[in-house]
Amino acid sequence: MHKKLCGEKIMADKKMEIKIGEAVFKNPIWVASGTFGNGEEFRDFVDLEKVGAIITKTVTLNAREGNPPPRIVETSSGLLNSIGLENGGVEFFIKEHLPLLKKIDTRVIVSIAGQDDEDFVKCTLKIMEGALAPDGIEVNLSCPNVSHGKTKYRLLAQDPKGTERIIRKIKKETDKIIIAKLSPNVTDIAEIAYAAEQGGADAVSLVNTYLGLAVDANERKPILGNVAGGLSGPAIKPLALRAVWDAYKKIKIPIIGIGGIMNGTDVAEFMLCGARAVQIGTANLASPDAYERILGEFEDYLDKQKIEKAENLTGALKVKG
Ligand SMILES: Cc1cc2nc3c(=O)[nH]c(=O)nc-3n(C[C@H](O)[C@H](O)[C@H](O)COP(=O)(O)O)c2cc1C
Repeated sequence: MHKKLCGEKIMADKKMEIKIGEAVFKNPIWVASGTFGNGEEFRDFVDLEKVGAIITKTVTLNAREGNPPPRIVETSSGLLNSIGLENGGVEFFIKEHLPLLKKIDTRVIVSIAGQDDEDFVKCTLKIMEGALAPDGIEVNLSCPNVSHGKTKYRLLAQDPKGTERIIRKIKKETDKIIIAKLSPNVTDIAEIAYAAEQGGADAVSLVNTYLGLAVDANERKPILGNVAGGLSGPAIKPLALRAVWDAYKKIKIPIIGIGGIMNGTDVAEFMLCGARAVQIGTANLASPDAYERILGEFEDYLDKQKIEKAENLTGALKVKG
């Protein structure tokens, strides 16, 4: 429950509070990159001050047009998207979005991506300079990296050495929280999570979307303009829970669980599997007021289960043997 003290300002509630590094978050339920705009777009539907943290849509050093349309299609219990990181570039983001985000009484984490190591470092430096610096950076590693020429890896997040290197370089540039966002399109996600930890990440968030393809059988064509896309929503929840559990057994830094969270019980499931916090993604697109409903349901779960602090749930899955 959030107590409204000091006029309208919402104070953190000890029961819901969690910590990542030295930073305290008012609750463990955050919103996922690319599914909550840059906050303002959801103001009419959600009391933004209640949100544990806002992860912005991924920004890149230079503006990107994104992939050809159609870019989103609904599938069985899921959503397939191929937005292609469309954004106006980091300068535009800092001028147009960051000032509004910083006015919201919550933690702001800016998601970044880059084509090479220099892109990531330059993006970080630009975002962190000046009075509007956010609370941290989420490094979206689900992009190709061309720094070391053509590699056998399609994505940075599939390359343990590349993941460790990028996180180390970014970490050098700022004292703020650095979160490595991992792709589930790998053989062993725990290995990549470990590489991020070795690079100095304060936390890892997992998972990004699973690669998929939707077909229009009548037209005999792929539905998305980019042919393949990323699958999200309830369809991926059991896969994401497994990824969180595997990483939890391997690393010591906090895990932020993502994948198909649609209600308060889903939040608890991720925390039981080892997540310290979670992010809500597709649920925001399915219904723009989903956030507060999920937050309320999770608080009810804690009350019913007589759990004193949300953080006590982390890793509390009862497993035999
Ligand atoms: C339309 C859409 C756009 C997304 N854009 C981004 C993005 O810009 N950066 C990123 O790291 N993840 C992006 N994601 C992935 C989500 O942040 C999240 O990791 C994924 O959707 C799984 O969570 P969910 O099943 O709750 O949606 C996007 C997802 C969707 C559906």
